[in-house]
Amino acid sequence: MRFVWLLTLVGLNLYAANAVQVGDKFKDSGKCKACHSHIVKQWEESWHAKSHYENDEYFQKTIDYVARKNNRKSLNSVKIECAACHNPRISVTSTNSEYEAIAALKLDKDSAATQALKSDGISEGINCVVCHNIDQIHDTLPDSKRGIHRVSWMKSGIMSGPYADAKSPYHKVEQRDFMDTNPNQLCFVCHANDTSEEGHRFTNMQAEFKTGGKQCVDCHMGPRKEGVAATLRDAKGQQHKRLIRSHGFIGAHTEGMWQGALNVDVRKGTRTLDVTLTNPQPHALPSGFGSREILIEAQYVSGGKVIKTEALSLTSKFLSKRGKPTIPHLAEKTVSSVAIPAFGSKTFAIPLVAGSDGATIVVSYRLVNDEVRELLDLKDPIWSKKMVIKKLNLKL
Ligand code: HEC
Ligand code: HEC
Ligand code: HEC
Ligand code: HEC
Ligand code: HEC
Repeated sequence: MRFVWLLTLVGLNLYAANAVQVGDKFKDSGKCKACHSHIVKQWEESWHAKSHYENDEYFQKTIDYVARKNNRKSLNSVKIECAACHNPRISVTSTNSEYEAIAALKLDKDSAATQALKSDGISEGINCVVCHNIDQIHDTLPDSKRGIHRVSWMKSGIMSGPYADAKSPYHKVEQRDFMDTNPNQLCFVCHANDTSEEGHRFTNMQAEFKTGGKQCVDCHMGPRKEGVAATLRDAKGQQHKRLIRSHGFIGAHTEGMWQGALNVDVRKGTRTLDVTLTNPQPHALPSGFGSREILIEAQYVSGGKVIKTEALSLTSKFLSKRGKPTIPHLAEKTVSSVAIPAFGSKTFAIPLVAGSDGATIVVSYRLVNDEVRELLDLKDPIWSKKMVIKKLNLKL
């Protein structure tokens, strides 16, 4: 009897204000292929397409770890919390203590939360109807309201886009500035800041961003080029020429993007090599997100043989409320943080090795530092791969 009462309560409370169902005709990117196949293909390669629990090992293991270490919250509640930005078309946007009570008793199998997490509507992560169904972005809300909590949706079947004069037989269209002249506003819906379970703000990209004339899309979707938005031909058999961008959202997971991302200058001091990293990008690198890392390695040689390697790791370290090393999402505080600020530079000293006549300096980037990779037991080689930013040879 008590359980029935609990279940009713859960049913009533779970539907937070702003979830709007997406009709079957628009739910997944496959429905857009007939007329936008080139865009669907680019997006499929992007990490926006991999942002679901099942498709990103690092994301999945972080969620599992948070749920394991936090016995006040069930796995489903953590998933729903993270979905705000990673899976924002989810139909349940928050859970409450009544839900935790039935989840603890494993009686939540038929709950709205479990159903929402199983829905194939969210399996694509950040797909077309995340960005193109946004009606308004509410920048007057507190800074901490992000993702699904910061937007209101269009009625299903209307696509927001950059053009005021577009016509489509498949869906309605509406022009929005955040798709055209002010695209940073769209990116900052999610790429702004994030806060740990302990209330610690461990990343703050929007605050660190400096306007340098370029928008996020200029670099991460590439410049506008002539092409077609839709391959559908009109009554005269013509395709409509448009200025378009790539939907690859290429970033930190793509090695090629790192080449030259920072400028590197090396000077020989009396007892050190002084390596200056200058960041020409308008945001910090690493972005400040969690456990990203820049590595500086100096390989000293003598007579053509490597005699010693010195390495320096530039990353952030976090402590849990028990004072133990932890992942960003469980951090109570950041104990050290090394990033190169937007348009700024920093110099790091590496010990000079006596007897060497030359050195190779390699500056590279890793998605996850050693500490967090071990805590989460990440297996895929992508997390430890060194992506080269710059390699220099020096005579000593
Ligand atoms: C405020 C929006 C927001 C919320 C809420 C959020 N994330 Fe994220 N998350 C992001 C963004 C944006 C990125 C990409 C950042 C980057 O690459 O620098 C990201 C990236 C990540 C990554 C790195 C993925 C990779 O492939 O490298 C992990 C892991 C992650 N988030 C875990 C979580 C977990 C776990 C939660 C819930 C406890 C969560 N996030 C909640 C916005 C959010
Ligand atoms: C992360 C947000 C985001 C996602 C996800 C996304 N788009 Fe876009 N899309 C944009 C932005 C921003 C523009 C405007 C680009 C510009 O400045 O011209 C755009 C533009 C477009 C255009 C106009 C032509 C062009 O390329 O500029 C079409 C059509 C389009 N998107 C379709 C899609 C489809 C189909 C998908 C899913 C496969 C998708 N988009 C996923 C953000 C997104
Ligand atoms: C039957 C063909 C067809 C299908 C299917 C289709 N579209 Fe379109 N779409 C079009 C045409 C035609 C245009 C207008 C192109 C132009 O004016 O250059 C368009 C324009 C757009 C635009 C730009 C709107 C603007 O005002 O800037 C977006 C965004 C978009 N579609 C998203 C989608 C998404 C997302 C899907 C899948 C859910 C989809 N479309 C399915 C034909 C289609
Ligand atoms: C609905 C939330 C959301 C919006 C809106 C959004 N992103 Fe993202 N973005 C994410 C998340 C979450 C990730 C991390 C996904 C993962 O690694 O699993 C991400 C990852 C990325 C990455 C990293 C890709 C990589 O390979 O490391 C880039 C670059 C990016 N987004 C650019 C953009 C740009 C540009 C815009 C605006 C046009 C935008 N995003 C809008 C949530 C969002
Ligand atoms: C002038 C070009 C430029 C602009 C503008 C720009 N970025 Fe970047 N961004 C880069 C480069 C270069 C990197 C490093 C290589 C890579 O990850 O692509 C990077 C890295 C990233 C990463 C991954 C960083 C990490 O350590 O996880 C994310 C996420 C990202 N940018 C999002 C954004 C967003 C959101 C905006 C707008 C607020 C933006 N960028 C504006 C050039 C730019």
